[in-house]
Amino acid sequence: MQFDIQQYLIKQEPYYLPQHNEVALYTAAYAARLPVMVKGPTGCGKSRFIEHMAWRLNKPLITVACNEDMTASDLIGRYLLDANGTRWIDGPLTLAARHGAICYLDEIVEARQDTTVVIHPLTDHRRTLPLDKKGELVTAHPDFQLVISYNPGYQSLMKDLKQSTKQRFTALEFDYPLASVEASIVSREAEVDLDVAERLVNVAQAARALKGHGLDEGISTRLLVYAGTLMRHGIAAQEACRMALVRPISDDADICDTLNHAIDAVFA
Ligand SMILES: Nc1ncnc2c1ncn2[C@@H]1O[C@H](COP(=O)(O)OP(=O)(O)OP(=O)(O)O)[C@@H](O)[C@H]1O
Ligand SMILES: [Mg+2]
Repeated sequence: MQFDIQQYLIKQEPYYLPQHNEVALYTAAYAARLPVMVKGPTGCGKSRFIEHMAWRLNKPLITVACNEDMTASDLIGRYLLDANGTRWIDGPLTLAARHGAICYLDEIVEARQDTTVVIHPLTDHRRTLPLDKKGELVTAHPDFQLVISYNPGYQSLMKDLKQSTKQRFTALEFDYPLASVEASIVSREAEVDLDVAERLVNVAQAARALKGHGLDEGISTRLLVYAGTLMRHGIAAQEACRMALVRPISDDADICDTLNHAIDAVFA
């Protein structure tokens, strides 16, 4: 059966409101087929941005959620046994390289370093991928591009990318959008009034000020969309905020109290 890369094309425009000039920067990087790293806290729009860009450039997008159990074979491919004997199955990285997709390795730091190094020959002038077990050297399709995401907040000494990996990428830094931009996003995504969205952003900003003072990470844009969505489904503002903005992010009673007060003040 012929593999159909077109199934990875994104048919409908993923809504994305730019924060800065990231669209122009990514477009230039893609034109030169430079590898791109997207950095930033959870839920700030990294994945949505890549989906939007793949749609804009009309290129298939293959996303891989990385984890620490992932092996090089999970990316590259492996032999499988079936009734007719052994059969090689391309992994997602090989599919993207062979057929010309954007390959998005999400949360790459989670993968072990012996897994991460397999991307190296694809990221420099060689643009090749050796399939050692199969004895094949895949030359990347001209449309292929590698993108990785990474949340510097979780980074520890044990879990960081090697310089020899980092220095194969250009990088875009994401953060929570400006208040006015974030309110437009929340209003549009959760289908709530702009006034409600602005209040939710106010709560998030209070929480983000607590980062490093008992909170590891602020309230994400994603959670604001959840809170707005609960409100659209008839849940009262304060209750929706406790469910979507407070309980998921902290187990600390003092922090939760502080956040609850901020919510009461904003939605009084
Ligand atoms: N600039 C933006 N334009 C449109 N929607 C956005 C934007 N930023 C955030 N969002 C909203 O926030 C949600 C979360 O964004 P996304 O999934 O891209 O986060 P992420 O940065 O990839 O997070 P993670 O690191 O956890 O994977 C999206 O589903 C979307 O609703
Ligand atoms: Mg993501």
